[in-house]
Formats: sequence, structure tokens, C-alpha cells
Amino acid sequence: KGDPRLQAISEAIRVVPHFPKPGIMFQDITTLLLDHKAFKDTVDIFIDRYRDMSISVVAGVEARGFMFGPSIALAIGAKFVPLRKPKKLPGEVISEDYELEYGTDRLEMHVGAVQSGERAVVVDDLVATGGTLSAAIKLLERAGAEVVECACVIGVPEMIKVKWKAIVYPCGASAIA
Ligand code: PRP
Repeated sequence: KGDPRLQAISEAIRVVPHFPKPGIMFQDITTLLLDHKAFKDTVDIFIDRYRDMSISVVAGVEARGFMFGPSIALAIGAKFVPLRKPKKLPGEVISEDYELEYGTDRLEMHVGAVQSGERAVVVDDLVATGGTLSAAIKLLERAGAEVVECACVIGVPEMIKVKWKAIVYPCGASAIA
């Protein structure tokens, strides 16, 4: 809020009506990735926020959390842990199912990727209902990590159903304060 970078970031995100289904306003961050300044500013906002918070884990949600999370992890000196869709990870995993608009999906995390007591941030491009983030939080907490915050680029505040204390999103009606 009040951050002069946010308007350019918001403008770099393309909104595609009726994709992938009628009625959905798809928030397309690929156009943000094409704009070097807006992309860097986006990542820098999170780096500035987390650099002095003793975060040792940045967990990215497939697929678009993979586009922002690693840059944040490298800059703050944390590891990057991919939270993947089913049957993508080769090692032993723990899984969490979550509700979609129609049906369910699942996120998986490698056993041993995170140690008990580690402080984690979850990164994704967008929070809508928050169902995906809830599954991500559960995976990390099952491994004994403390999820300090969830960081998304875009939030759709009227859709968020989870009452979780700390979801931040610079682009959306309630921005990072
Ligand atoms: C989108 C988005 C988030 C999730 C948010 O991913 O990237 O991960 O939906 O929705 P929610 O808050 O209601 O759970 P999607 O399910 O389209 O998967 P993809 O990135 O693999 O295409």
C-alpha cells in the first residue's frame, strides 16, 4: 500500500476473460515475467519483507509458485522446496488433498525436505479461495515447520475462504501494508 512499484506490477499482469472457463477472469502473470523491472520489483518486495525474518524454507506451489519462489529463496539465504501436483516427485512424499471448484487436487512434498522447527514462507502467484495454500501449510506443519506467512503476488479478497492469519498479496484490494 502506497508502494509506487505496485501500480506497474498490477498493470503488467494480463487479465484474460473466460479462461480457462466461461466466467473466469484469468490473472496471467506470464506478461509480468516479460517485464524485467516489474518482475524484479515483485520479487524484491518479498525479499525485503523476508530477509531478516530467519526464514530457512521457501516452499513454492506448482506451477506458478516455482516462477517466484526460487529467486526469493536465493536472495534471503533459504532453501527452495517444491510442493508438487500428484506423482511428480520421485522420493517418499507426504500428501494433502484440497478442494477445487469442481473436484479435488493434491499437493505433495518430499519427506526430509524440511526439518522440524524450520521457519517457512509459502509462495504462489495467486490466492483465490485459499484452498491450495491451506494444503501447503498443512504439509509444512506436518513436517514440523512453522509457516510464518504465505506470499502471493495477487489476491482475490472476495474469494478467500480460509481464515489464516498471514496471507499477503501486493496486488489486490488488501495489499501488503
Ligand atoms: C491456481 C493458482 C493457485 C491456485 C489458487 O493454480 O496458481 O495455485 O489456483 O486457487 P485457490 O486459492 O482457490 O486454491 P491452478 O490450480 O490453476 O494450478 P496450476 O498452477 O498448476 O495451473
